[in-house]
Amino acid sequence: MYNSARLGILASGSGSNMAAIADSIAKRQLEAEIALVIYNNPNAYVKQRCIDRGIPHILLDHRHFSSRELLDEKISHTLQEHKVDLVVMAGWMRIVTSVLIDRFPQKILNIHPSLLPSFPGHKAVEQALEYGVKITGCTVHVVTLEVDRGPILAQKAVPVLPDDNVASLHQRIQLAEHEIYPPTIGQYLKT
Ligand code: GRF
Repeated sequence: MYNSARLGILASGSGSNMAAIADSIAKRQLEAEIALVIYNNPNAYVKQRCIDRGIPHILLDHRHFSSRELLDEKISHTLQEHKVDLVVMAGWMRIVTSVLIDRFPQKILNIHPSLLPSFPGHKAVEQALEYGVKITGCTVHVVTLEVDRGPILAQKAVPVLPDDNVASLHQRIQLAEHEIYPPTIGQYLKT
């Protein structure tokens, strides 16, 4: 239970989930603050979103680290320096090691663009389309060492439409992500 939890967000790409979380905080629907956004790609659009909103952000480029563990060591240290209570992976495209997980046990959440346990790993939207499922969606879960296998906190279904392509389907899944991630973070902070 926190008064106003300090979130550390890890993002690799556009940062639309980070923005949804920031909006929810601004509307006082989510009682938290974004202490820091860590991103790993210099050109990730999430950087611009942070600048626009005055959110502290730092680039930790994975290419400058010789192993996953060394990157996670630096991430852990940076998050701790910023007194982060909960780590929120929002489109973080790196596999996380025990270095980070052990430093924040049960305190890392992720959002995945499928109804887990279906279609874990990369290209979840492509996998769902190729398989031909009629319903897919998104899942918020606690991060454990096994990729996309941690305890499920929330899911939202999204129908696959007959003329969907990867972009159109992913766009609708992302709308569902923006709906469920902020309130799920809020609920988790109360546990
Ligand atoms: C989301 O679809 C998320 O499920 C996946 O990566 C995407 C990130 O999007 N892990 P964004 O950077 O939050 O816009």
